[in-house]
Amino acid sequence: TTFLRGKDFITLQDWEKEEIDTLLDVSFDLKRKFAMGVDTSYLKNKTAMLMFFEESTRTRNSMEAGLAQLGGHANFLDTSTMQINHGEVAKDTAVILSSYSHAIACRNCFWEIGNDYLRDMAEHSSAPILNLQCDLYHPMQGLADLMTIQEKKDETKELNVSIIWAYATSHKKPISVPLTQALLFPRYSMNVTLAHPEGFELPDWVIKQAKENAEKHNGTFKVTNNMEEAYEDADIVIPKNWGSWVNHPEGGEEMLESNKDWKCTEEMMDLAADDVMYMHALPADRGNEVEDSVIDGPASIVYDEAENRIHTAKSVMTLTMGGK
Ligand code: CP
Repeated sequence: TTFLRGKDFITLQDWEKEEIDTLLDVSFDLKRKFAMGVDTSYLKNKTAMLMFFEESTRTRNSMEAGLAQLGGHANFLDTSTMQINHGEVAKDTAVILSSYSHAIACRNCFWEIGNDYLRDMAEHSSAPILNLQCDLYHPMQGLADLMTIQEKKDETKELNVSIIWAYATSHKKPISVPLTQALLFPRYSMNVTLAHPEGFELPDWVIKQAKENAEKHNGTFKVTNNMEEAYEDADIVIPKNWGSWVNHPEGGEEMLESNKDWKCTEEMMDLAADDVMYMHALPADRGNEVEDSVIDGPASIVYDEAENRIHTAKSVMTLTMGGK
C-alpha cells in the first residue's frame, strides 16, 4: 500500500518493497522541493517526540530540521533527563508521549535492549514508533544509503556493493548499519559482499534473511573474511573499522590493534572498479579506518549520503505521521 500513516518504522524488513519505493519516491520529491524552496508543510501543527539514549549529529538534526521544514515541531528528549532514569517503563512512556504527539522517534542502541525497547513502545503507543537506531537496525541510515546509491548509479541491479565491516555479537558491539545494509541491498538486486575479520560474524539469522532477500529479488549475498576480495571490482565500498571503539570498556584497544590492516586505503581502492564510490554512515574515524585521501577524494560520496538523511527522514515522517 502507499498509505502508510501510523506504520511503525523499526526495520525496513517489516516494510514491503513497494512501500520502501514510496518512501524513496517521496524522498526525491522532498529533496527537489527543498532545492526549489517549495512549501512542504505537510505536517502542520504535528509533533514528534525524539528520544535519544545516545549522542547524535546527523539523526537528531535531520529529524529536528526536517520536521520544522514540514511545518511541525520536534521535542528533543535527552533520556538522561527523563523519568526513565528513575525506572519508568517503556509502556508508560509510550502511552503518555503518544497521547501528546503524532510519532515517537527513539535511539536506543543498548545491546539486547534497544530493539526490544522499541517493540515494547510500539505495542503500547497510539502513534507510530520511528527507529533512530537500535542495537539491530538503523533504517533511517539504510534508506538514505539506498537513496544515495540510486542517485549516483543508474541501475542498482547487479551493482557490486561491498560492506566491509561488522561488529561481532560476542563483543556486544553495534551491528545496526551493516545489518540494515545486508538485509536491504539484496532486495534491490545488488550483488552484496559482506567482509569482516574472523570472529566478527553477524548473527546467523541475518545471513539467512539476507540470502533469502537476495534470492527473492535476483540479487546475491556472500560473506568473506578476505578484505582484498571485497574490494576487487566493487562499484561501491562501505568500509568501517573499529577505531572509534578504542575507548570501549570491552577491549576496544585490542580489537583495533588486531585488525589494524582492515583500513580503507588508496591501495585497496585501486582494486575496485574505476568509478568506485566510497560510502560511510559517519562519524568516521579518520586515520584509523580510512585515509583522508580516500574520504576526501573523488570517490567519496559521504556528504551526499549524510545530506540525504534529511530528505529520507522527512519522507518517513510525512508518510507515517501525515497522509491518509
Ligand atoms: N550516521 C548517524 O546515524 O549519525 P549520528 O550518530 O550523528 O546520528
